[in-house]
Amino acid sequence: MKEYVRLSLETHLFFGRIMKEHSFFLLAGFPAKETEFIRRADQFREEFEDGLRKTVRLADGIVGECVLRSGEVVTEFTQKAECQTKNLTGIPIDVKITEAEERLHAGSCVMVNREMVHHVKMLNRQMLRSLNGLIALKEEILTDMTRCRLYTTNYPLLIEHILREAKMYRQILSELENRGRIFAPDLKNLEIFWNQIMMEHAQFIRGLLDPTECELIETADEFAEDYCRLLKEAREQDARATNALTAKILRTTRQYQRFKTAGTEGITGCEIRSIILPLLADHVLREANHYLRILEHVQKGGN
Ligand SMILES: [Fe+2]
Ligand SMILES: [Fe+2]
Repeated sequence: MKEYVRLSLETHLFFGRIMKEHSFFLLAGFPAKETEFIRRADQFREEFEDGLRKTVRLADGIVGECVLRSGEVVTEFTQKAECQTKNLTGIPIDVKITEAEERLHAGSCVMVNREMVHHVKMLNRQMLRSLNGLIALKEEILTDMTRCRLYTTNYPLLIEHILREAKMYRQILSELENRGRIFAPDLKNLEIFWNQIMMEHAQFIRGLLDPTECELIETADEFAEDYCRLLKEAREQDARATNALTAKILRTTRQYQRFKTAGTEGITGCEIRSIILPLLADHVLREANHYLRILEHVQKGGN
């Protein structure tokens, strides 16, 4: 039960925030006339914000040190990026949640009693309900966009991308609810999933940079090509080559993490010309940090 509580809260700290921000990016991308889509995206933004608030309240003294240290929950830029994004869009963001996350303690000092398990079970159910709704909304947006019935400033590929992330979250939550633990997909599938996510981030970044940012566009293109190759290798890999490939992915992802860190610093510091929201830059950095933690865990012999 202790594992169930810890894994549930760690999952929400990362993915719950990711979903809250996806709702935000959807909301910020609609033209003013799309009042119904705006209302629905805003509702999910509020629902995930509420779920994340509850998560942070329950997580103190329970979650793992490596999760808090990884930079997947918050980074040094998150607060600043949130304030800037709030001011730029006029859409509210509760920065107090971020402040509370920065103060979270790791460890197993809190007693996991029946009441605690009950609270986490309720939270998991709440998040699953919101998640099913958000997945349906994303699917509807994608259909309308690809049939040219809806305009948004988000790429169709971005909608497909955030749909895949939402489905990964749902898979993890369903396993926690049905079996009390996470049966991680095998390493090959995990690497295929995240290599594709990393590749697409590079493609989004290059497409949202100002055309005059030649050097950054070139570097983003190189990372997209690197991950495209790694994605192919992960698909073709046989069991014996796994370790060598993981080491290669780890090397690339460490470099990529540095590129994204510099990018987030540049965007929050107003040194880069682009149409990238500061919070989007921080969002993709956190996803790289999450992947890095998984890869490092695998390399240390975990599963
Ligand atoms: Fe995302
Ligand atoms: Fe992503």
